[in-house]
Amino acid sequence: MKVSIIGSGYVGLSTAIALSYIGHDVSCIDIDQNKIDNLNEGIAPFYEPALDELLLKLKDKCEFTTDYKKGLADTEIVFLAVGTPSTPAGNANLTYLYDAITKIANHSFTNNPIIVTKSTVPVGTSKEIEAIFERVLPNQKFRIASNPEFLRQGRALHDTLFPERIVAGSSSKEALDIIKELYKPILEQSFADSKALARPKELTSVPFIATSIESAELAKYAANAFLATKISFANEIANVCDVVGADIKEVVEVLSHDSRIGSKFLNAGLGYGGSCFPKDTRALAYISHRGGYNFKLLNAVIGVSNDQRFKVIEKIENALGHLHGKNICILGLTFKPGTDDLRDAPSIDIAQELLQRGVNVSAHDPIAIETASKVLDPKVKLFSNVEAALKNADAVVLVTEWQDYIDLDWTDMKTVVKHAILIDGRNALNPKEMDEAGWIYQGVGRRGTIDKAVLI
Ligand code: UDX
Repeated sequence: MKVSIIGSGYVGLSTAIALSYIGHDVSCIDIDQNKIDNLNEGIAPFYEPALDELLLKLKDKCEFTTDYKKGLADTEIVFLAVGTPSTPAGNANLTYLYDAITKIANHSFTNNPIIVTKSTVPVGTSKEIEAIFERVLPNQKFRIASNPEFLRQGRALHDTLFPERIVAGSSSKEALDIIKELYKPILEQSFADSKALARPKELTSVPFIATSIESAELAKYAANAFLATKISFANEIANVCDVVGADIKEVVEVLSHDSRIGSKFLNAGLGYGGSCFPKDTRALAYISHRGGYNFKLLNAVIGVSNDQRFKVIEKIENALGHLHGKNICILGLTFKPGTDDLRDAPSIDIAQELLQRGVNVSAHDPIAIETASKVLDPKVKLFSNVEAALKNADAVVLVTEWQDYIDLDWTDMKTVVKHAILIDGRNALNPKEMDEAGWIYQGVGRRGTIDKAVLI
């Protein structure tokens, strides 16, 4: 099928590459000329496993352009995959989406493509898009659908090719049938996988869930809100662990054997960050509030996650007594490992708070130093060498659980720092091993070796 995708961010580009990989003829349209030039050279706008390799491989099958006329020619399905960032009030900013719709509406179509919203949009947006098209192009009967995306950063292509479900919402049966046909190789898992993108062993087919347009839109928010709730719940239990002397890892181990609860998304630490959870939870709370409903649970989930980032600072303070003039090293800057994305990363808030308290902040990240230099306060000293970042530190705080830190020779690193005190914001390291390596260690909701007597 001929498919056009508007927007070459994580969602748009992953969808483009995946659809092209399973044999469709894809055009990717973006307003950013520089991004398009790079994509035509095989250069990806962000880091994602297997992306560079597939970009090269699919170079002749996937077109990248800023020209709507070219990108929309003969298209059968148009995906809207532009960004929907948060406004200060918490709702989604739909400017990019409406700009794209205006450009689509200006195109003279020879056929009757389906317009599919893939961007995460407030419930009702797809219906609004339908109304816009009916107003502007009354003679052209566009079929509108919502097809939310559930991919994780760092697993974008994997999640797009091997999803746990595909959801499509539309009032048009025909549109749903065409979308199902488009995804057929993924639904049936009939395409050949590759070494870089190996099919999970147990995956033989993917369910296709057809819904109303509103249910599809809400399902995306509901999924992210539920996962965010699990994370905030685990963080709350971890905070109780700190108070009563229990260990969150042990408690979660017990919970995870209950199949009704499951083991995933219960890692306590610094709360959730990234481009989706913070934005989507705020947007769902806003949508509910605007509709006259106070989503109490979700508001609490958001509050817990916001506060959780700063808990590590209390712990450093417990260890150091006061923070002014101290050297603190932050390990890991991205919002999670496996990505170079710093959007809504806890590291930004933690670094800012430490600076405000008069701390000399150094930081290391295995891949995001360049991105970090554009986002973090210039007073944060950035190092691409971990040892250089740790040098002379009074305390170290692990903010992103990169494997590099788990594999670090902590016995060796003890000789580099001034005081071997480590606050593990992700519970990624082994407290016993850290103790043996000579470190004073404190995780989140875990028995540690720091107590108030360890003031320096
Ligand atoms: C998320 C959803 O998983 C995905 O389905 C959706 O489409 C987009 O948002 P992503 O933002 O890439 O994906 O990251 P994810 O792996 O879900 O992690 C989000 C945040 O939660 C990260 O900051 C991570 O560190 C944090 N997290 C995750 C925890 O703190 N604890 C956990 O147990 C899991």
